Parts: sequence; structure tokens; C-alpha cells
Amino acid sequence: MTKSPIGGNRSGRKLGQKVKKGKLKASSRRWIERHINDPYVQRAQLEGYRARAAFKLLEIDEKHKILAGARRIIDLGAAPGSWSQIAAKVTNSTDADPRVAAIDFLEMDPIPGVRFLQMDFLDPEAPEMLKQAIGGTPDLVISDMAAPTTGHRQTDHLRTMHLCEVAAHFAVDVLAKGGHFLAKTFQGGTERDLLNMLKQNFRQVIHVKPASSRAESVEMFLLAKDFKGRQAADSEETAEDAAAE
Ligand SMILES: C[S@@+](CC[C@H](N)C(=O)[O-])C[C@H]1O[C@@H](n2cnc3c(N)ncnc32)[C@H](O)[C@@H]1O
Repeated sequence: MTKSPIGGNRSGRKLGQKVKKGKLKASSRRWIERHINDPYVQRAQLEGYRARAAFKLLEIDEKHKILAGARRIIDLGAAPGSWSQIAAKVTNSTDADPRVAAIDFLEMDPIPGVRFLQMDFLDPEAPEMLKQAIGGTPDLVISDMAAPTTGHRQTDHLRTMHLCEVAAHFAVDVLAKGGHFLAKTFQGGTERDLLNMLKQNFRQVIHVKPASSRAESVEMFLLAKDFKGRQAADSEETAEDAAAE
């Protein structure tokens, strides 16, 4: 169970710290102040997670139970690695019997039991390499991928939405029947075609916003649960087409 760190400060560091005015730009100073005073950042340090993002996955799991029973997990946009840390733990993954494959174009320090590919997920070879790295059928695909910011909000938004869409098609291509897909998206950003595709392939499709996702951020997560399986989704589609004719 995830405990809310709000109001608490178990890392021993005081909240409400200010960064001295100096050479830093005001916006950079504000970012640092927000970071060092963020209770989730402090709690991540205390609990040995590489990023506060860990609590987004844990909070979503607390409500929607996607980690329990997962035997193989693919983590897209994994660096610095807190979701992969959780994935390795829940699958009991080891270097001898790896059950987690992760990808990021940034470097990531090794995590025992995690096969890491440092490459662009949009590289046409990435899907096949991930399938080989996981060495079996995954029952969970998680994507926290966010496109690097360009400063142009709409461009960033569209790029991240594109990543979400490519990740969704990848999930449908690799998941085991009954598996789940979780991906970062933006409020109001999920395209209708993508939602329809997911609804055709999963028994439940919802948007979730964990408490640890900053309220001022438009970030949301798209959760597609209980994959129908490739044949089942195909035959349902054929039946719908036949009924429509
Ligand atoms: C919010 S961070 C992920 C944090 C991670 N879930 C964790 O718990 O540590 C998003 C990551 O997505 C990665 N990313 C964005 N676009 C990508 C792409 N096309 N291919 C691979 N990784 C990508 C970024 O490099 C970044 O490290």
C-alpha cells in the first residue's frame, strides 16, 4: 500500500526550503525549490526509488491492480528507472531469468533483472528487439514516455501523443490475453481513433490521474485492462462489420 507523504517529511529534510538568489534564472530557481520541497521526491529518496514517478505507478496499481500476477513486463521510456525497479520486484526478475525489458534513448544505470535497450522506441527495429529481450509474452506494457520538450507546448503535446499511440499498437501486438497497458497521455489529448482501437482490444479503457501526478500538470494516464487477445478482438471486429452490413 502506498502511504501519502503529503504533510509528512520522513526523509529528515525540511520542506519549504528556498534557493538563494544568485546566478540562476528565476524559473530555474523555482523548479529547484519545487523539486527539493516535493514530498514525493523526498519519499523516493528514502525508499530507494530513482524517481518520484514510482508513486504514480504504485498509486495506479493500488486502485486498479495491474501489477499483481504480472510475469513479464515491458517498460517504455524507462530512465532513470523507478518503474523498472518496481517491475523487476513484482516479477521476481533476475539477471539469470530476466522478466523485464526496458527502453529509453537516455542512459540508465543497470537494474538487476532488467534488460535495457538504449535506443529510440520509434526506431523501426525497437519492437522486435524488445520482444527478443523479454524472451516470452509480456502481460503488462507500461509507458511513461514523454517527448523531450521543445518549448512549443502544442508540438510537445502532439509528440507525446504520438508516442502513446505507437506504444498502444505495440501493446496490442505483444500482450498476452488478459494483459494490461498503461501509458502517459494528456488531458483531452487522447485521439478518438486510439480510444476506439483500445476499446476494441481491451475490456476496460479509462483515464487515470494519480495524486502524485502534479495537479498543475495536464499529464494523465491511459489504462487499458484485460486484453481480449489478438484472435478475439479480430473476430469481434468481423462480427461487428457483418452486423453493420
Ligand atoms: C518521465 S520519464 C520516465 C520516468 C520513468 N518512468 C521512471 O520511473 O524513472 C520519460 C522518459 O521517456 C523517454 N523517452 C521519450 N521519448 C522516447 C523515445 N522515443 N524512445 C525512448 N525513450 C523515450 C525519455 O528519454 C525519458 O527518460
